[in-house]
Amino acid sequence: MQTLDDLDIPYLRMEDPEVAADPVPHLNAARQLHPWLARCAFGHVVLSHEAIWDLLRMDGKLEPSFDDVVELMGAADTEWGRFQHSHILNLSGEAHKRFRGLVGPMFTTDEADRNRPLMRERMNRLLDEWAPKGAFDFEEFVSYFPISVISSMIGAPLTEIGRLRGSLEALGLALGMNRDFMPEVEKGFLVMDDFVQQLVAERRAGERPGTEQDLLDLLLAATRDDGLTDREIYDLLIFLFVAGYDTSKNVMTFVMRALLDHPDDYARCARDRDFCGEVLEETLRLNNPSTITRRVGRDIVYRDVLLPEGTLLFFPATVSGRDPGAFEHADEFRPGLERSNRHLAFGRGMHICLGQFVARAQIEEGLHLIAQRIRNPRLVGPVGHRPFFGVWGLRGLPIEFDPAPPA
Ligand code: HEM
Repeated sequence: MQTLDDLDIPYLRMEDPEVAADPVPHLNAARQLHPWLARCAFGHVVLSHEAIWDLLRMDGKLEPSFDDVVELMGAADTEWGRFQHSHILNLSGEAHKRFRGLVGPMFTTDEADRNRPLMRERMNRLLDEWAPKGAFDFEEFVSYFPISVISSMIGAPLTEIGRLRGSLEALGLALGMNRDFMPEVEKGFLVMDDFVQQLVAERRAGERPGTEQDLLDLLLAATRDDGLTDREIYDLLIFLFVAGYDTSKNVMTFVMRALLDHPDDYARCARDRDFCGEVLEETLRLNNPSTITRRVGRDIVYRDVLLPEGTLLFFPATVSGRDPGAFEHADEFRPGLERSNRHLAFGRGMHICLGQFVARAQIEEGLHLIAQRIRNPRLVGPVGHRPFFGVWGLRGLPIEFDPAPPA
């Protein structure tokens, strides 16, 4: 058996803007030196689809790592730090099971489908406002969509979306492992905290935006029947906003970036909603925001290598989708192509994305309508990138297009 010190493995500069701009050549080069493992600034990076698939399934030996993130960010005394210790993604064992059991039924495929009309209504409203412009930053435009969908599902007023967007952008910086962002992150967290506390207080006082039962009704019922505390409800609400915002927005921006190079596929998205789903899955395989992080809780021996307790492991899901050992034509965008492996953009194991059906439904519905109203989009300016650590994505996607009226 080999120890990590015995191994001659590459060093991957995950924090380098050059890697964020185009990680694939760096990942391929690293894989030439070792098939599945590299070192990085804060621990080790798992490089192959198979190793990510195998290791992420070992829930019993892996632990959530947000305590390490808080320490790296020097944020132990902040409210954001407290939140990181206690949210659903940092829970394990029975505590996690209890939460997942309470909230899981609110995020099934049926529930996601039930919300499709609402998703279409939100996207149509956005397009009514933005499509006549004929040119805009697609990233900014699309950022309002996941916030308005999750706000509507929760039963929160849409009047606050501008304020929430600024805070969610700040919170998205948090996992980039850069301490300079901490003041902004903490400010963003306090805005969200204030918002959800007020939301709960107003609902208890009888104020509500609609007549249908929404997520907040279900969560408040859980405080009465299942002993969820108010603090747990506030943290869960904040987590839902955070988990669904950057991820969905960045994926939609990646989708549009891919389709700018494939105009025939884009035109088909306007006619064929099911094809939008295939475009989404292919984009998720090629480019997705998620780098999953775990601490080894009990020694693991994998492929004769000892990963000792305490090792911090990073699993970039984009890497797994681009692994030529797992996918034929790994670097090509081929929506609808039958593939023998599945992408890991929503994770694997007990923390697999709770919102994946909502995410899929909203992106499919959103893309279908976008392609109808934003015709012949063209890239008209430079595109930046978010840090590869944390929630990766594009920073700005300036486009021009031919506006079309609603179908
Ligand atoms: C395309 C968009 C999305 C992507 C790529 C994505 C990705 C992920 C990934 C990779 C995880 C697992 C993280 C880990 O294991 O450390 C996760 C967890 C989670 N996601 Fe998503 N997500 C998306 C959208 C959403 C949405 C829209 C919601 C809610 C409305 C959501 C709610 C959650 C929750 C609650 C968890 C934690 C589950 C648990 O700990 O049991 N996600 N997501």
